Amino acid sequence: MDHSDHVNLLRNGVVATGGVWADLGAGSGAFTLALAELLGPGGEIHVVDRDSKALRANAEATCRRFPANAVHYRTADFTEALELSQLDGIVMANSLHFQLEQDAVVRLVRGYLRTGGRLLVVEYNINRGNFAVPYPVPYASWERMARAAGFSHTELLGRRPSRFLKEIYSAASW
Ligand SMILES: C[S@@+](CC[C@H](N)C(=O)[O-])C[C@H]1O[C@@H](n2cnc3c(N)ncnc32)[C@H](O)[C@@H]1O
Repeated sequence: MDHSDHVNLLRNGVVATGGVWADLGAGSGAFTLALAELLGPGGEIHVVDRDSKALRANAEATCRRFPANAVHYRTADFTEALELSQLDGIVMANSLHFQLEQDAVVRLVRGYLRTGGRLLVVEYNINRGNFAVPYPVPYASWERMARAAGFSHTELLGRRPSRFLKEIYSAASW
């Protein structure tokens, strides 16, 4: 996948330019860059990862390609409370499948959104885990998890074949 695939996976979930978003488990920034493009120069992004080296790579790439966006970096564990509130949206791309207590994480994260704010997930559409994706979140599981966490709507945004693991999907819940 390249940058345009990342943008296209998020595109229909980002319904307005500008706004304040977070990218949780952002890594070196594949989806931070996509989000920055979709939000446009007025968009603000809180980028969170527990890996400070990945965050430095993220900052370098995002600053170079989207210098007009306000981007804040935080080395933190998103399974613990973060000081975030009233967000317009959150992206969690390939980060939920590392969490054992996924329901609790999704409930916690939902609390950072304003009413009507959106949680976008990107995950592998597989049922069985492996060393790289220990706790997979296939789309059917995501629908159930989102409903249980209090989201009233979930929509499948896109799907891409994955050379690594069958298929990757994106979904929005609000
Ligand atoms: C597979 S990478 C995905 C990076 C990026 N979102 C993407 O899709 O390209 C997963 C990232 O989630 C981060 N991560 C996993 N669990 C985390 C946690 N509990 N708190 C913060 N970061 C976490 C890892 O450090 C890693 O950078």
